[in-house]
Order: sequence, then C-alpha cells, then structure tokens
Amino acid sequence: MADTDARNVLIAAAREAAARAYAPYSGYHVGAALLLADGSIVTGANVENASYGLSLCAETVAIAKLANMAALAQVRAVAIIGGRAEGGALVGTEPVHPCGRCRQILNEAAEQARTDMDVLCASGDGSAVASYRLSELLPHSFGPKDLGLA
Ligand code: THU
Repeated sequence: MADTDARNVLIAAAREAAARAYAPYSGYHVGAALLLADGSIVTGANVENASYGLSLCAETVAIAKLANMAALAQVRAVAIIGGRAEGGALVGTEPVHPCGRCRQILNEAAEQARTDMDVLCASGDGSAVASYRLSELLPHSFGPKDLGLA
C-alpha cells in the first residue's frame, strides 16, 4: 500500500474497531481492519472470555466476518493496532504485531485472494507504523495451496 491516505484510513478503521474490543481481563484492546478489492473495509476487535484461553483475537474476528460474507478472496491488506486502553484512548509506542495463530488465519484469506497482503502494524498512540508483506511474517506458510484448494 503505497498510498499514505489509504494507509491512514485503514489504520483509523482499526482504531475505531479497537474501541469496541471486549477485553475486560487484559485491558489490551486490539483492532483489525481488512481492506477489500473494492475499497471497502471489514473490521474486528478482540473478544475475551472468562475462560481466558477461549479469547478471540481481533484479526480472527475480522477474518470470520469476511468469511461469512463469502469474501475471503477479496482481501488486499490489513491494519492492526493495539494498546492498553486508558481514558478512552489507546496507549503504547510500539507497533503491535499479529500473533502466530492470527498470521495463519490471515494466510488463509491471502491465499484465497492470491495476494501477499500488506500488513500494517500500528502502535496504540499511532506514532509508529511497521509495514510488512504477510510472507515476511509467515514465511514458508502452509495453506490451501498445499491442499490444492487455492
Ligand atoms: N490479541 C489480538 O487481538 N491479536 C493479536 O494478534 C495478539 C493478541 C489480543 C488477545 C487478547 O485479548 C489481548 O490481545 C491480550 O493478549
């Protein structure tokens, strides 16, 4: 994603989604925003559970929404933002990177879309954004292509 405006719009959408996180246990809010081929955006935020291990990551929630739209193949990029929520704002100066499970979940859509999607990782305070291709974060991936399904 070379276009700075488009990057900022996607990061802003992830930030808005993070405001809807359900994270009473960690207090760490994560938002994910998927950019589709038609320019539309699908978001998700983390959903925690009293049985901690059942918590859902923001990226997983967003991809599940996309799958239910039958639109996995439309994904082009994702922005992720995370930080502790203090006074209604996210704090933290370090970009949040997707966990290992989420990299694999994102890869499912990327392979269906036949794209090495851009992954924008923003810090909670917005001061830092690290940019990657998914293949940098998940090299030598296993996915639908290995099963002849993409
Ligand atoms: N989390 C995400 O939503 N995405 C990630 O990639 C890393 C972690 C969430 C899970 C949990 O609700 C909180 O961050 C603290 O681990």
